[in-house]
Amino acid sequence: MGIWKLHGGDRLYGEVTIQGAKNAVLPILSAALVTGCVTTLENVPRLRDVENTLRILECLDCRVERDGNRVTVDSRPARLNPVPPELMTRMRSSVLFLGAMTARFGAGCVSMPGGCMLGPRPVDLHLRALETLGGEITVTDETIACRAPRLRGGHIHFPTPSVGATENALLAACAAAGETVITGAAREPEIGDLQNFLRAMGAEITGAGTDTVRIRGMTPREEVTYSVMPDRIAGATILCAAAACGGDVTVRQVVPEHLDTVTDALFSMGCGIQTGRNTVRLTSDGCLRSPGVIETRPYPGFPTDAQPVLLAACLKAEGVTEFRETIFSGRLRHTRELMKLGADIRVDDRTALVTGVPVLTGAAVTAMDLRGGAALIVAGLTAEGETEIVDRDLITRGYEHLDRILRALGADITYSD
Ligand code: EPZ
Repeated sequence: MGIWKLHGGDRLYGEVTIQGAKNAVLPILSAALVTGCVTTLENVPRLRDVENTLRILECLDCRVERDGNRVTVDSRPARLNPVPPELMTRMRSSVLFLGAMTARFGAGCVSMPGGCMLGPRPVDLHLRALETLGGEITVTDETIACRAPRLRGGHIHFPTPSVGATENALLAACAAAGETVITGAAREPEIGDLQNFLRAMGAEITGAGTDTVRIRGMTPREEVTYSVMPDRIAGATILCAAAACGGDVTVRQVVPEHLDTVTDALFSMGCGIQTGRNTVRLTSDGCLRSPGVIETRPYPGFPTDAQPVLLAACLKAEGVTEFRETIFSGRLRHTRELMKLGADIRVDDRTALVTGVPVLTGAAVTAMDLRGGAALIVAGLTAEGETEIVDRDLITRGYEHLDRILRALGADITYSD
């Protein structure tokens, strides 16, 4: 149980390097199991979810080494051992081991995945994809098992895009005989990163980033070296904090086009935005105006993961902002905590109407999920007085040293475990 303490009112100035992407490295680590090889990954963020995933790989007899932001996974000795449920149930991405195990061993078993409480998070699309490739699925209250002595290529169609289900389908299809075509695939950049990693492993994949992906099997390589893409949501979080606090902040090692829906919104709020090859610079006087309507959509639409932090940046903006959360039915729980700081928010089902207020006042609040917790930090940095955030290891799941980064920019913030 960690505690964040912050005193608002400081402007933010400086340059920060953004971490490797949590939502890219987690599927990539599962993918390292698909064939017996030695994988060296660079730009791996130091996060609880990454540590948890490395423990799962070790339970499967992989040899894992960590040296700062470099991780080496030797999956040649891997065996289909049972994995303790407490490792699997802590995060959503553990479900990706089902596709990776099935590809490697012809069978797999995972505990029901955990992860942020954002409303119902079914896995029906994951299971349908594995069944299309010949998997026999058995579901109990606690576990999901897949048996597929021979995976065969097929046409997987997703009626609605799912990042995780697209990733699970990719992992299993690498071991399938013949071609697999995925239509209705999610287009998030993290899927492109997974494709690039699987290609480095020897897979023949095309189309990631579009809604149609083709996989034609794999010619395994013994050694794989790969660098994880930047975390677009961590970058968005820092930019939203800078916009709300006011100042001049440059985020380095980002892919500007991965952030463009967020920077477009911040520009419309009155911020200055300058993009370089792998940088985004934001200037703000801290007096923002409403961006109007923000509707979360599958990529390339506005990312649901950035909704909470942009909403926090709108709390003192002039005018009324309408947030429509179309991806997760339970992703507005941070609004209740933000109201304790004096925010004017009216929530109706999946819509939040935020009316800008002149002042926010620090208070004791609780992080309800990863990005909602980050929203509390953004709001606390613009509130008068002290804000204390109780964090049941939620924020640290997804952000590497967020306290250090914000302090380096001039924020008065501390985090203690
Ligand atoms: C990934 O979650 C990300 N997590 C989430 O980030 C992100 O918000 C989400 O994609 C965006 O779509 C990781 O990559 C680890 P989905 P995922 O499957 O794969 C429904 C963060 O804060 N659905 O794309 O679980 C689902 O309920 C996290 O970093 C089904 O109905 O999301 C949701 O409404 C939070 N059946 C929609 O699809 C399924 O089988 C999109 O979910 C799967 C999903």
